[in-house]
Amino acid sequence: MSRLMLSHVGVSFGGVAALTDVTMQVPPAEIRGIIGPNGAGKTTLLNAICGLSRPQQGEITLDGTRIDRLAPDVIARRGLRRTFQTSRLFGGLTVLENMVTGLHAKTRASLLACALGTRAAREEEAESVARARKALEFVGATATQDRRAKELSFGQQRIVEIARALVSEPHTLLLDEPAVGLSLNRLLELDRLLRRIRDERGMTLVLIEHVIRLVMEVSDSITVLSFGRVIAEGTPQAVRTDPQVVEAYLGSAAHA
Ligand SMILES: Nc1ncnc2c1ncn2[C@@H]1O[C@H](COP(=O)(O)OP(=O)(O)OP(=O)(O)O)[C@@H](O)[C@H]1O
Ligand SMILES: [Mg+2]
Repeated sequence: MSRLMLSHVGVSFGGVAALTDVTMQVPPAEIRGIIGPNGAGKTTLLNAICGLSRPQQGEITLDGTRIDRLAPDVIARRGLRRTFQTSRLFGGLTVLENMVTGLHAKTRASLLACALGTRAAREEEAESVARARKALEFVGATATQDRRAKELSFGQQRIVEIARALVSEPHTLLLDEPAVGLSLNRLLELDRLLRRIRDERGMTLVLIEHVIRLVMEVSDSITVLSFGRVIAEGTPQAVRTDPQVVEAYLGSAAHA
């Protein structure tokens, strides 16, 4: 069964179509790259999957259950997490504090219980911190845990954002351009990290990326969007040589 399935999904804003008839299936433990020119609908696709925007047409299922009418926090509790195109870290908080805020969908203790400092809330807090530390260790960022997020380099922040999405131990992770602005060393680090998330955790990844080299290297398969429609899908090699893709997207890069 597919982990994630989109069937004839359509999203429009004020009558303008951002996604039209998008159908795709992502099997478990696969890295699926999503590429396409600016404005092709990539972020809209992620927003539709994670519940931030509601498709007017079609269906989205996660492990066979429809999720396209559920709220984002409900979808998150079913094991799906995402990162954003721009940083969502709280600059004034430490890395560890940021990590714990990433766990909210899974904590049960109410804010009131936290405020009263009940034993259950304290235990839950300790468990949250332990999980946060584990995620930081997984991405190799333990040394940053007590630093304020705004003091980290841009590349470190991007890695910490991924760690933050891992704290609740999701099975599916959506990444919106995690490589933008990274140095070559950080790109290689990200490449290794994404593979480890798939291979060691068995997670499913949907990776939007403009850094073609990364997405071609790391993806098991790639879906290409152009003007809100899927124009190609297949292995990186097949997509790279697809005439429609070269025309719509890679053409200008190839010329350059
Ligand atoms: N909230 C919104 N309201 C109105 N139009 C929107 C909204 N979100 C996206 N759009 C439009 O939908 C289209 C797709 O946008 P989207 O952000 O999904 O593209 P993208 O592929 O992520 O682009 P980029 O590579 O620049 O991030 C664009 O024409 C955009 O202007
Ligand atoms: Mg986008």
